[in-house]
Amino acid sequence: MRSHYCGELNESHLDQVVLLYGWVHRRRDHGGVIFLDVRDREGIAQVVYDPDTVESFGIAEGVRNEFVIKVQGRVRLRPEGTVNPEMTTGKIEVLGKDLEILNTANTPPIQLDEHVDVHEDLRLRYRYIDLRRPEMTEKLLFRSKVTNTVRNFLDDNGFVDIETPILTKATPEGARDYLVPSRTHQNQFFALPQSPQLFKQILMASGFDRYYQIAKCFRDEDLRADRQPEFTQIDVETSFMDDQEIMQIMEEMISHVFKIHMDVEFDSFPKMTHQEAMQRYGTDKPDLRIDLELVDVADLMSAVDFKVFAGPAQDSGSRVAALRVPGGASLSRKTIDDYTDFVGIYGAKGLAWIKVNDINAGMDGLQSPIIKFVGEEVTSEVMKKLRVETGDIVFFGADKTKIVNEALGALRVKVAEDLGQVREGWAPLWVIDFPMFEQDNDGNLTSLHHPFTAPTCNSEELTSSPLSALSRAYDMVLNGTELGGGSGRINLPEMQQAVFKVLGISDEEAEEKFGFLLKALSFGCPPHGGIAFGFDRLIMLMTGSSSIREVVAFPKTQSASCPLTDAPSTVSKQQLRELNIRLREVE
Ligand code: AMO
Ligand code: AMP
Repeated sequence: MRSHYCGELNESHLDQVVLLYGWVHRRRDHGGVIFLDVRDREGIAQVVYDPDTVESFGIAEGVRNEFVIKVQGRVRLRPEGTVNPEMTTGKIEVLGKDLEILNTANTPPIQLDEHVDVHEDLRLRYRYIDLRRPEMTEKLLFRSKVTNTVRNFLDDNGFVDIETPILTKATPEGARDYLVPSRTHQNQFFALPQSPQLFKQILMASGFDRYYQIAKCFRDEDLRADRQPEFTQIDVETSFMDDQEIMQIMEEMISHVFKIHMDVEFDSFPKMTHQEAMQRYGTDKPDLRIDLELVDVADLMSAVDFKVFAGPAQDSGSRVAALRVPGGASLSRKTIDDYTDFVGIYGAKGLAWIKVNDINAGMDGLQSPIIKFVGEEVTSEVMKKLRVETGDIVFFGADKTKIVNEALGALRVKVAEDLGQVREGWAPLWVIDFPMFEQDNDGNLTSLHHPFTAPTCNSEELTSSPLSALSRAYDMVLNGTELGGGSGRINLPEMQQAVFKVLGISDEEAEEKFGFLLKALSFGCPPHGGIAFGFDRLIMLMTGSSSIREVVAFPKTQSASCPLTDAPSTVSKQQLRELNIRLREVE
């Protein structure tokens, strides 16, 4: 067994004889002396072999990068001038005595000893090597420590860790299900859980009071940097606590994690209504490190000759909004064209703008392709409303509300990043008072959260005007990422049935899909509520990673496959026959 990890050696170990096991990170032959940088999960130590130790020196000559070796030697100070302040072990080295090669290694397809840009597919195919990179190792060690802190916090607060099934029935969280065919019930399927939602509510009916689970969830949805088909939630449910109390204790948990692992102290989190978030930031997960805000100007634009603005200004389902960007007057024509393409991704048909070159020069100080359409009078009023200053640019969006919000909401973040207007640090908040439902393109109502979320109104009000009903949902947002989402739940069968009805779910369908839940509610289910945090997202943010794939040991690609194992893959005819499945030609 090792005496020390390579990475933990320092001056306190001077003159000690140590036994190390690790990989050869780098080998350097300095005319008569051989340096081996030996790496294990905790870091790298420099080991020196000189020709005096004849046998070991001979072995050292033969080792190559990534060989696995066993080293015995004595810790000494590095000679003057060779100290490496970049390394935690940089003041010492190990004078090697014994050396044993435990395994050789082929030349790795990924360089480990320097920062290299390797295609992600290659990294995922050789993930075991990629994870040897100190940066990746550190992230997974960090993740493990945070898991531990979360568990301890929840244990200390009386939460009980209970596992829920992976082979189960569909739980609607808005994504497609992953299905698993049953052999013992032919032509029937399990669904992998999109979340433990229904089971955790049923555990409340059982009286467990405070539940948690670090739970795997499965969702077949379009993947992005912060989405994986299987991911991990910190899943929590409680009984007899109101929404404020649940938010409070969860805020304490996240604050505790940041205090311990980042040495960051949060003030209490601000709460913002969904409506305010959409109005000011065009999104329900605003990044409050950015000061830029959307301002409605429909009132000023409704009478202008410019149809592009006047049309939406007069339509209740549309929005005309302005985004004032200090310092933006210096943006080039090319950049503005790029931004126009960028908002096009969200369906915006254009991006009008006004540059304020000199606020004191009246109309002559403004530069814009739209003043001639909008007119000087309205332009001047808009400039007044926005309190523009010299050096600003103002962008305008006019379209259906959803398009304007998404386009200007995303532009707000992009411009702020490009101009260096994103503050350092952390900006957590709660978004509350979500609508219960939204309307899809076909006019059908869908739940904004999930159908088990309680409304703030009674069931008659809910049924008569569902689109104006608010829910008891709350999201925790951090630096523009939705970290967690939860809600007060429905615990009365009648209310649950009313919600199903609004969603167009018939009694028969409700019974077939959720009969077990409705029954559980009818046997004395206490008032309850809870939340789930995206654990991968939390670690992504804490480690400053660009994607959750960087903090998942074995992630899937954008197309939901695993280059390491080549999953998904075909199965044998025999297996298919047992499952009573016949394949069709791929179209
Ligand atoms: P929700 O669907 O909002 O709520 O999920 C909770 C949190 O999980 C994270 N998350 C994801 N992370 C990575 N990849 C994904 N594909 C993915 N999808 C979601 C997000 C999100 O905030 N049962 C409810 C919670 C509840 O009501 O208690 C639920 O799952 O960070
Ligand atoms: P056009 O008359 O279509 O050339 O548009 C004049 C200006 O308005 C251009 O700068 C367009 O980018 C911009 N524009 C066009 N449609 C919209 C829209 N829906 N929202 C905001 N700006 C727009």
